[in-house]
Amino acid sequence: MKPCIALTKGRLEKQFLEFFQSLDFDIAPLLNKGRKLRVETEEFQFVFAKGVDVTTYVEHGIADLGIVGEDILAEFQPDVFNLLPLPFGKCRMALAAEKGNDWPERKRTIASKYPNITKEFFRQKGESVDIVKLEGSVELAPILGLADGIVDIVETGTTLKENGLVIKEAFHQYSARCIANRSSLKIKKDLLAPVVEALQKGVPAP
Ligand code: PRP
Repeated sequence: MKPCIALTKGRLEKQFLEFFQSLDFDIAPLLNKGRKLRVETEEFQFVFAKGVDVTTYVEHGIADLGIVGEDILAEFQPDVFNLLPLPFGKCRMALAAEKGNDWPERKRTIASKYPNITKEFFRQKGESVDIVKLEGSVELAPILGLADGIVDIVETGTTLKENGLVIKEAFHQYSARCIANRSSLKIKKDLLAPVVEALQKGVPAP
């Protein structure tokens, strides 16, 4: 039996593969996988999904381990074991608005893929805002007049910059995390311990 690892597709996938290779794991079958969503290597089964679905597969024990952004864990609070931080996927959660535009004095509207994080951020500030949930390309919302600002992750800052937005306040630092199914960790201890140890070795000491 091979451990099953659910991997967030896209940017985290690329960064994870580089990291995994640096730990001397074989990633050859994972390169050029085309549109395949399930790939087996000598040692592992990998499944590829969107971040929030990675947590669902791990929560249900379909995947033993998952590689997911901490932003997803903060927003959805899945019932998984938050095992370890990984040295990639570093980003900030930030409130941003159009450059040069005054922040209106009335009740503000904020667009975000992260309504729970946004709600908590403004609750702590003691400010009541209207939140509009979007699924992506959130930077469009202030430009098109749907919202006064956005709460979103900023990695390189390129998307903000190229769309004329600036950070007003950055308030969380996140990285990728390795999560685990709670029972798999106990039941499949012998199978999972070596991979968890290997991942841990790749994480620089704080
Ligand atoms: C994320 C995020 C920003 C962008 C930030 O979106 O929501 O839009 O990346 O990255 P940057 O600071 O390096 O430019 P993603 O690429 O996941 O796509 P989405 O907008 O469709 O969610």
